[in-house]
Amino acid sequence: MKLPDELQFISSAFQAQKTTDASMNGKLSVITGATSGVGYHAAKRLAEGGSNLVLVCRNPDKAEDVRKELTGAYNTNVDVVLADFSKLSDVRKAAKYILANYKHINVLINNAGLHRTTRTLTEEGFETVFCVNHLASFLFTRLLLERMIKNAPARIIQVNSEGHRFGGLDLDDLTWARRPYRGLKGYGASKVAQLLTVWELADLLNGTGVTINAMHPGAVKSNIGMDNGPLYTWSQRLFVRPFLRKTVISGEAIYYLAAAPEMQNVSGKFFNQTVEEKPMPHALERKLGKRVWQISEELTGLPGMELK
Ligand SMILES: NC(=O)c1ccc[n+]([C@@H]2O[C@H](COP(=O)([O-])OP(=O)(O)OC[C@H]3O[C@@H](n4cnc5c(N)ncnc54)[C@H](OP(=O)(O)O)[C@@H]3O)[C@@H](O)[C@H]2O)c1
Repeated sequence: MKLPDELQFISSAFQAQKTTDASMNGKLSVITGATSGVGYHAAKRLAEGGSNLVLVCRNPDKAEDVRKELTGAYNTNVDVVLADFSKLSDVRKAAKYILANYKHINVLINNAGLHRTTRTLTEEGFETVFCVNHLASFLFTRLLLERMIKNAPARIIQVNSEGHRFGGLDLDDLTWARRPYRGLKGYGASKVAQLLTVWELADLLNGTGVTINAMHPGAVKSNIGMDNGPLYTWSQRLFVRPFLRKTVISGEAIYYLAAAPEMQNVSGKFFNQTVEEKPMPHALERKLGKRVWQISEELTGLPGMELK
């Protein structure tokens, strides 16, 4: 039985996933949030595949542990750049460091992300989840874009989520000042905003040799949300985590999207791990996407880029 598009994510999760043993020897992958969960497993798989790595992380001790582990286990260079993605000033510093130190960026994986059950604002006045999950990755990508285009081919992977299905994006209330904050909606809003910008960027990058795709890494056991207080953590442990899969599958899926030769020219798609899927209609509204793009530029202080 074929499920309607909106429910296809249920069957995609059980489909056979694609893998690749293509080498990434000599390539450089930049990955955010590599100290835990999806990002950690992606970094490990990339190192195993031969890629050199720049790990963009906020916690120096955790980042150093991962760096040591990967350089000890694999024949690869691993650099750590410290940045808290709830501060756009940190995102700018991280991009500046990378541009100063690396000529070629072959793969950029925007993975750092979080889920909050309560509304918090960043020092710069953004709702935290929207800032980390969308604005920071938007800014980081844009700051590295010219270098990637110059030395194409290159691939950008946005670690998005089936959580985009929760919706929640209201461009007139991005800080949730006028609505009661709901964790899943706040998370959904950030992921919808990111997805909408993926379609715009894919069009802009058409013909440059740089691709951009978004992916859901699977419903996997990670630390996401586990800092939301004892009640939330307890209920997750009891009712949700037993049904989650091992995070290693996310690393394998990201490796496929980053390394597989058949993915070289694929752009502007959404994958459930490695299975292409149609996002919810609200995440496909191109007119809305152009507004999100423009607002994201304004909020991050980027110069306007003309959209196609
Ligand atoms: N797990 C799932 O089932 C699932 C499903 C769909 C999508 N995702 C997506 O997968 C991505 C990774 O999440 P995860 O599940 O692996 O969660 P996780 O285990 O909590 O890992 C999140 C990573 O992001 C980093 N991070 C969080 N806030 C940050 C900030 N302000 N600045 C810099 N780095 C920050 C964390 O750093 P610390 O180690 O310092 O906390 C960690 O490295 C997210 O984008 C999430 O939305 C996950």
